[in-house]
Amino acid sequence: MIYQNQDHGLAIITGASQGIGAEYARVLAAQGHALLLIGRDELRLQSVSKEITQLHEVEISTQCLDLSLAGSAHQLFVAARDCGKPVDMLINNAGFGLYGEFVNMALPRIQEMLQLHINTIVESTRLFLPAMIERQTGTIINVSSVAGFLPIPYIAEYAATKAFLLSFSEALAEEVRESGVSIQACCPGYTETNFHNTAGYHPRNPIGPQTVSQVVQTSLEAIEKKQPRVTIGWQGWLSDRLTRFLPRTLMIRMAGNRVKPPPP
Ligand SMILES: NC(=O)c1ccc[n+]([C@@H]2O[C@H](COP(=O)([O-])OP(=O)(O)OC[C@H]3O[C@@H](n4cnc5c(N)ncnc54)[C@H](OP(=O)(O)O)[C@@H]3O)[C@@H](O)[C@H]2O)c1
Repeated sequence: MIYQNQDHGLAIITGASQGIGAEYARVLAAQGHALLLIGRDELRLQSVSKEITQLHEVEISTQCLDLSLAGSAHQLFVAARDCGKPVDMLINNAGFGLYGEFVNMALPRIQEMLQLHINTIVESTRLFLPAMIERQTGTIINVSSVAGFLPIPYIAEYAATKAFLLSFSEALAEEVRESGVSIQACCPGYTETNFHNTAGYHPRNPIGPQTVSQVVQTSLEAIEKKQPRVTIGWQGWLSDRLTRFLPRTLMIRMAGNRVKPPPP
C-alpha cells in the first residue's frame, strides 16, 4: 500500500457493494480514509462495511442510492455533507454492461446507462470539485474502461459512455493541473467481477482476467504520479497502443467480431 493511516478526510466510492468498488473501499480504509459507500444493494453494502471495520478503525457510512435516477448526484452530495468531513476522494465507479444489438435493446436500459455513466458523474464532479479546488487538494477517479478506447459494435453504448468518461476526465485533469486536485480516468481491461454475469456476456478472451487488486493498486499508485489516464498491466498498455496506431476501421471490425453474439 502507498500510504498508511495518515489524517485523511472522506473517500466516496460509488458501486462499492462488490467488485472493483469494494476493493477501492478495502484499500482506502487500510490507508485511513473515512468512507462513504454507495450502491443499491443494502445487504451487500453492509457486508463490505462489516468486513472492513473488522480490520480497520475507520468511520464507514453506507447509503443506498440508485445513481441512474435523475437528481441522484445531488442526493450523493447531501449524503457526503451529512458525514461532516471534507471530501478528499470521489471514486465514480458504479456501472454496468449492456450487450447485444443496439436495435433490440430496451430503451429504458440504455437511458439508465447514459444517466449512470455520464449525467450523474458529470453532475457529481461539478458538485464536489469546487471545494477540492478551494482546499487545493483532492482526487476524482472516474472508472472508464479499455472499451472506451474504440467504438465497439454490440456494446456500442457502453463503449461510447466509457469514451466520454475518458475524454471528460483527461480534459478536466488538464484544467485543474495546477490546483492541487488530481483527476484520473482508470481504464481496466477484463477484470474478475460479477460485471459480465450481470451483462449476460461471457468474454472470449484468450488472456485471463485481471484482479480487482491489480486494478485498484495501479489506479492509486498512478494518483501519486498525477497520471490522468491509467491502464492496467501490459494488456492495458497493449490495448492502448493498438487502438491508437492500427487502422480504426480494421480495429472496429475486429472488436465487433470478437464481441458479436453467437447465432441462436
Ligand atoms: N469487470 C470488468 O471487466 C470491467 C472492465 C472495465 C471497466 N469496468 C468498470 O468498472 C466499474 C465497476 O464494475 P465491476 O467490474 O466492479 O462490476 P460489478 O462487480 O458488477 O459492480 C458494479 C457496482 O456498480 C453498482 N451499481 C450498478 N448500477 C448502479 C446504480 N444504478 N446505482 C448505484 N450503483 C450501481 C453495483 O452496486 P449495486 O448492485 O449494489 O447497485 C456494484 O457495486 C464499472 O464502471 C465498469 O464499467 C469493469
